[in-house]
Amino acid sequence: VENVGILAMELYFPSQYVDQNDLEKFDEVSTGKYTIGLGQSKMGFCSDREDINSICLTALHRLIEKNNLDLHDIGRLEVGTETIIDKSKSVKTFLMTLFTKVGATDIEGIDTTNACYGGTAALFNAINWVESSSWDGRKAIVVAGDIAVYGRGPARPTGGAGAVAMLVGPNAPLVFDRGVRASYMTHAYDFYKPDLASEFPFVDGKLSIKCYLSALDNCYNLFSKKMRRTDPDFKGLLSLDGMLFHSPYCKLVQKSLARVCFNDFLNAAPEDREKQFPGLSEFSNHKLENTYFDRDLEKAFMTYSENLFNEKTKPSLHIARNVGNMYTPSLYGGLVSYLISKSPDQLIGKKFALFSYGSGLASTMYSINICNDMSAGSKLATLISSLHDTVSMLDKRECVDPQIFTDVMDVRTKNYHTAPYQPSGSIDILFPGTYYLVNIDDQRRRTYERK
Ligand code: ACO
Repeated sequence: VENVGILAMELYFPSQYVDQNDLEKFDEVSTGKYTIGLGQSKMGFCSDREDINSICLTALHRLIEKNNLDLHDIGRLEVGTETIIDKSKSVKTFLMTLFTKVGATDIEGIDTTNACYGGTAALFNAINWVESSSWDGRKAIVVAGDIAVYGRGPARPTGGAGAVAMLVGPNAPLVFDRGVRASYMTHAYDFYKPDLASEFPFVDGKLSIKCYLSALDNCYNLFSKKMRRTDPDFKGLLSLDGMLFHSPYCKLVQKSLARVCFNDFLNAAPEDREKQFPGLSEFSNHKLENTYFDRDLEKAFMTYSENLFNEKTKPSLHIARNVGNMYTPSLYGGLVSYLISKSPDQLIGKKFALFSYGSGLASTMYSINICNDMSAGSKLATLISSLHDTVSMLDKRECVDPQIFTDVMDVRTKNYHTAPYQPSGSIDILFPGTYYLVNIDDQRRRTYERK
């Protein structure tokens, strides 16, 4: 099978948000800390009406409806999430309610978890299946979703929520390059959720940034090495049309692109270095591992990479800036944002790299080529036009006061373990087509309806 990749995509984000300017005032931090310092504008959040099952159902149902999918033509359904509400039963099995209605039950795949990386792992499983001897000719669906919430404190403005659903199969417009995936996996306690009675993670903010950047260095260098095996002329960022990142907050992504340039700088032959990186020679002897918080170096490479960032990465941050860190779907919200920023003609033949990071830690850089085969062009146009509709929903959301957001967080926290439980959040505020939690009974079984 050829040109295996993403055929269609659908994204869901909550219908309400808190404005980061308002949150700065409410939290009594200095003006600009969240909006400029972190680069965030708005943060989407869910009331107790939504949970991981409901948001994944919403994204999946939309994908099925919008693309008129025949559910008997789906042979694999994978979920990536770190929002755990059951230690045994998978979200995938909840999603099966849509399939069992039509008698489609021969469907492999379950949930995959490791922080923000589970969506990528699920996507790789789907791609691998289609490329394998187990494949039976049907398509796969990958759903990645999370509700990202933090306790009160400096991490809270980096929350978010959302879900993405992706249809995977051959002859796709977004083709996954083979043989160049580069991973870096190791043990770290940067962000983890050991308290099963709480929805909030334990997070060591500074360590998580260091882990993220060191994972990026490792993945990017290995990815570049693998690319040079197939294309000896591969010149790092200059050979890529776009570079997309998991986005904990947008400022870290801008710093990450600067970091990629620092890697290219170190990898450049000394005689080419001055030409490609004028005025940066003072950093020639700097080492990757000593420079994660080196202000001078960061500033110099941020300045150097500003235009490259605007061209190759910034277009991918629209959803991240306006919804926040969705965890597993974050990188795929980046993909959606990047695609809708261009016309199909501008995208055909382009190659871009994607960096997926999940604390703990698991990370991979891989690449996508748009329309290896021109016959996928019309699929690309359909994909992009349906995503325009979805993303336009950002402007139809309701802005709520930080006090209401805080109250909603308190309700979620207080009732995280309550059963039986009747959610109190508004149904009116939800977008049409949204699944919501109706009830948790005394056996902790959950029931849902669709608006
Ligand atoms: N105007 C402009 N910028 C400001 C202002 C202001 N008034 N005030 C502060 N800033 C800047 C700071 O200088 C800093 O920028 P810098 O990093 O370039 O120095 C930035 O705003 C943030 O300020 P800090 O004081 O560093 O923020 P704090 O330490 O309170 O929290 C953090 C930031 C650590 C990211 C926190 O939000 C967090 O823990 N988030 C969750 C962890 C996370 O997202 N990690 C990333 C990878 S892991 C993952 O994906 C979950």
